Amino acid sequence: MLGLKLLTDPRWANIAQTNLEEILTDHAWCEQKAASNAISLITNNSEHEDLVHELTAIAIEEMQHFQMVIDIIKKRGYTLGRERKDDYVNQLMRFSKKDGSRNTAFIDRLLFAAMIEARSCERFRVLSQNIADEELAKFYYDLMVSEANHYTTFLNFARKYTLDVDVDKRWKEWLEFEGKLIQSYGKREHIHG
Ligand SMILES: [Fe+2]
Ligand SMILES: [Fe+2]
Repeated sequence: MLGLKLLTDPRWANIAQTNLEEILTDHAWCEQKAASNAISLITNNSEHEDLVHELTAIAIEEMQHFQMVIDIIKKRGYTLGRERKDDYVNQLMRFSKKDGSRNTAFIDRLLFAAMIEARSCERFRVLSQNIADEELAKFYYDLMVSEANHYTTFLNFARKYTLDVDVDKRWKEWLEFEGKLIQSYGKREHIHG
């Protein structure tokens, strides 16, 4: 799925559904961080008009996802907790290239975003197929489709704007790295946990 090297064990969904308040809180902040990431890509690469246009739409969509999650939290009588740390995303950030040319860092930032969208999409699929809660199963199915589109957008911009990066080669390195990294996860009620 989306080139991912390792699919999530569906039993992770059982862990997730034992604590819906926690997974929803973590999920809400994932959406907020996705919006922030799109905004910072816009801020740092504003010379690309089409990127500004499409990432503005993504930033808005991610905040709409945030709103949908906090609406569910409220409707169920839960409380949105403080932002949760995302160790998985921090590890990906460490893998991304910050040295080299400005373009190299830009392309890797797009691949970083594509990677998170791909795994989030896969985790949403696992939730949609395995949790008993019908409302949430449908909700996660819809989000899975949306995040798959974001994945494609980020990857396409990396291919479009590369100057000195072999994007297909670098994307393979990302998939290899992530495939090993994700082996340590799948044990917590967090979207990337
Ligand atoms: Fe989203
Ligand atoms: Fe997304």
